[in-house]
Amino acid sequence: MAMSRIALITGANSGLGLATAQALARQGFTLIFLLRSREKGEKARKQILEKSPQAQIDLFFADLTDMDSIRQASQQIHANYDRIDCLINNAGYAPAQIEFTREGYEKSFVANHLGHFLLTLELIDLLEASGQGRIINLSSAAHAMGKSRRFFLKHNAKMNIWSAYGDGKLANLLFTKELANRLEGKNVTAYAVHPGVVNTQFGRNFTDWWKYGFGILRPFMITTEEGAQTSIFLATADLPKSYNGGYFSKSKPARTLNRDVNDYNAQLLWKRSEEAIGERWQL
Ligand SMILES: NC(=O)c1ccc[n+]([C@@H]2O[C@H](COP(=O)([O-])OP(=O)(O)OC[C@H]3O[C@@H](n4cnc5c(N)ncnc54)[C@H](OP(=O)(O)O)[C@@H]3O)[C@@H](O)[C@H]2O)c1
Repeated sequence: MAMSRIALITGANSGLGLATAQALARQGFTLIFLLRSREKGEKARKQILEKSPQAQIDLFFADLTDMDSIRQASQQIHANYDRIDCLINNAGYAPAQIEFTREGYEKSFVANHLGHFLLTLELIDLLEASGQGRIINLSSAAHAMGKSRRFFLKHNAKMNIWSAYGDGKLANLLFTKELANRLEGKNVTAYAVHPGVVNTQFGRNFTDWWKYGFGILRPFMITTEEGAQTSIFLATADLPKSYNGGYFSKSKPARTLNRDVNDYNAQLLWKRSEEAIGERWQL
């Protein structure tokens, strides 16, 4: 009997993460969920088991703004798994207001990028053990609003919610690019995704005008099942080598929308991210 493939999905309790998990469970993947709420995780697991009763789903917990919680979750995952075939860095949000971490970094940037940066490095040995490990980073067309010169500025008073979100999604793209460069020859590949404009919990934290605007747009958004297609494609299809490090929409390579997407910024982001987590990794 063929070995079941193993996928770890962050933020699998909601929206695109849940729809991706449903689809991968149907295809026989063993699933590892990394979440911050046990209650929401159990509910999601139940939902998946209703449709795929054979599914194997393990829950682990971390908040992507809390680096120690990520390190602890990684230890627990290592105690239970000796390989991961697919890491889907899916969790993310646009902030309703600008908040800074204790270190002074904008909080959504930390959750959207830095937490996933650390998680990926923590799990890289398990992805290498797969022999064909894949890393899928949920970016967005909103990367167009990002600026690499704002990365890791502390207590930046000029930041607004869309520049913060744009920076995180630009970082997801640059991280993907640099992963592909650094993992060359190691049998681990990386891909970035724009899922479309999808009706999920995204934006439900907004207040005032944005809440109203998103409410009006919701009926025109695509479903989570449709939005998850590109992630599912990248997790399961035979992919040409040239796709490594690329940006994808509608299951096809897509053009990036920001001049800051280049190797120089990808390397700089990596360096600054290592400084922010206080660790260097030999990749
Ligand atoms: N929806 C869209 O139109 C759209 C478009 C482009 C890109 N995306 C990207 O797609 C990804 C999934 O978003 P979605 O639309 O499915 O949104 P969603 O329904 O709001 O799901 C977001 C998930 O991220 C988790 N999360 C948020 N902050 C976290 C933190 N600090 N630590 C751990 N988990 C955290 C949430 O956990 P809780 O349930 O505990 O809050 C939830 O599971 C995001 O990266 C988003 O940027 C979405």
